[in-house]
Amino acid sequence: QVTDATAAPAPKKMAVPDAQTVTEVKHYTDRLFSFRCTRPATMRFRSGEFVMIGLMGDPDPKTGRQKPLLRAYSIASPSWDEELEFYSIKVQDGPLTSKLQHIKVGDEIILRPKPVGTLVHDALLPGKHIWFFATGTGFAPFASLLREPQTYEDYDEVIITHTCREAAELTYGRELIESLKDDELLNEVIGEGFWKKIKYYPTTTREESAKMGRITDLMRSGEAFADLGVAQINPETDRAMICGNLAFNLELKEMLEEYGLEEGANSDPKHYVVEKAFLD
Ligand code: A2P
Repeated sequence: QVTDATAAPAPKKMAVPDAQTVTEVKHYTDRLFSFRCTRPATMRFRSGEFVMIGLMGDPDPKTGRQKPLLRAYSIASPSWDEELEFYSIKVQDGPLTSKLQHIKVGDEIILRPKPVGTLVHDALLPGKHIWFFATGTGFAPFASLLREPQTYEDYDEVIITHTCREAAELTYGRELIESLKDDELLNEVIGEGFWKKIKYYPTTTREESAKMGRITDLMRSGEAFADLGVAQINPETDRAMICGNLAFNLELKEMLEEYGLEEGANSDPKHYVVEKAFLD
């Protein structure tokens, strides 16, 4: 028997449950990044849903055991994409994102392949216009829905508003919307020029940009509707999905109710749905 005594033993790899491999990482600001990873072959989801993702936590100082550290993340890629995409905040002392922000291509993340969520077309009644209201990383589920053919099949107009503190925080959304023009699948399935259905309304609150102010204030004053060239939201024609920070979600929900819209669910489709953006 010949043994090669010089061959180094294979490095010991942690057995990560539900592991997926990171395929791309893009950093936008010191607070925001996006990444893509492999998708389990059997995983199905509806555009707009979220999953639990994360990393193994630090070893317990007493037992040495490691537990998975998981958070809910909206899937930013559409249901037909062979990979998965996520858009994340970086919180320097956040339990998960302080580590997650350092992932590189080839690293493994944990992904529990059980998608759920309310920001799905099934939770809304048929309508003419769909409004996507986002703040910060709340843009993620809309990055999925904007690449979903059903969005354009179901609606004549797709209005996406995105409010961020600073202009650089709009980059991920702006680049995504620009990329839609060249999206082969959408051009083929929906037809050339489908992107003309999209009205994009980015605003900033703490840095100068083309449009300043919170979307809620811009709607209350009527400025947003005038800028977009659309009528005030009403339950006959308009449907809406909300995803942002808690205060924003609550304020906008109240406004939509004042316009006469009612909250829908998977089992009881109505005029609008809400979901909270992930914060570490
Ligand atoms: P503002 O700068 O005026 O607080 P955050 O990064 O804190 O999650 O905020 C993201 C964006 O959401 C910010 O532009 C913030 O504006 C805005 N925002 C926060 N609360 C509300 C709210 N109740 N209604 C509308 N926009 C809000």
